Amino acid sequence: MASSRSGMLKVLLVVAAALASAPGVLSDPPPLQDFCVADLKAATAVDGFPCKPASTVVDDDFFSAAMVSGPSTDNPFGVNSTRATVSAFPGLNTLGLSITRTDLAPGGINPPHSHPRGSELVLVLKGEVMVGFTTATNQLFSKVVKQNELYVVPRGLQHYQLNVGKGDAVFMAMFDAQSPGLVVPTLGLFATKPAMPMEVLTKTFLMGEDEVSAMKSKFVGF
Ligand SMILES: *[C@@H]1O[C@H](CO)[C@@H](O)[C@H](O)[C@H]1NC(C)=O
Repeated sequence: MASSRSGMLKVLLVVAAALASAPGVLSDPPPLQDFCVADLKAATAVDGFPCKPASTVVDDDFFSAAMVSGPSTDNPFGVNSTRATVSAFPGLNTLGLSITRTDLAPGGINPPHSHPRGSELVLVLKGEVMVGFTTATNQLFSKVVKQNELYVVPRGLQHYQLNVGKGDAVFMAMFDAQSPGLVVPTLGLFATKPAMPMEVLTKTFLMGEDEVSAMKSKFVGF
């Protein structure tokens, strides 16, 4: 009995040591070649994208002008993002990084959301942006970030960006993932297809059906 227990302890220690010394498993896998420009049209599905034949790779595969100008922020939230993730910028494939430009109208909100596969480094280019993120224990960290200042949001944690300045605001969000993903709880609750069962929503929010329907009506078309 005692020896099997110490055997078990040894196994646990080995597993713990392996986990502690392998933080790399939490990010995109490192590339095994100089480049692997995404073949976005490949029939084969892999975790990521297969590589275009090297002979067909051109200069523009490593170039993107997606961040040059801002998208329209003429919507109820006063926000819009342009994403240079792997599907818009094939040269990023296997490199474990991507970038998004977000424009905020005065008072605009990038509503609470999370990126399951990437930490986010926020660089404010223009204006004043309140960045906040929440932890698994519901602690809120927040800061007003100004031009050329940075804020970092750890992987997977829910966060928001609110324009608290007088004019427009612009920030770049850099990710340690080629495709960080985007989860928006408001949409994941009130705008799913098919709709989430009413009973789930009334019980979750301790609300009546009329109140839930009123919430849902705000997110039609998003
Ligand atoms: C975001 O900007 C693009 C480009 O200006 C525009 O086509 C799109 O409708 C905008 N989306 C929203 C939700 O405003």
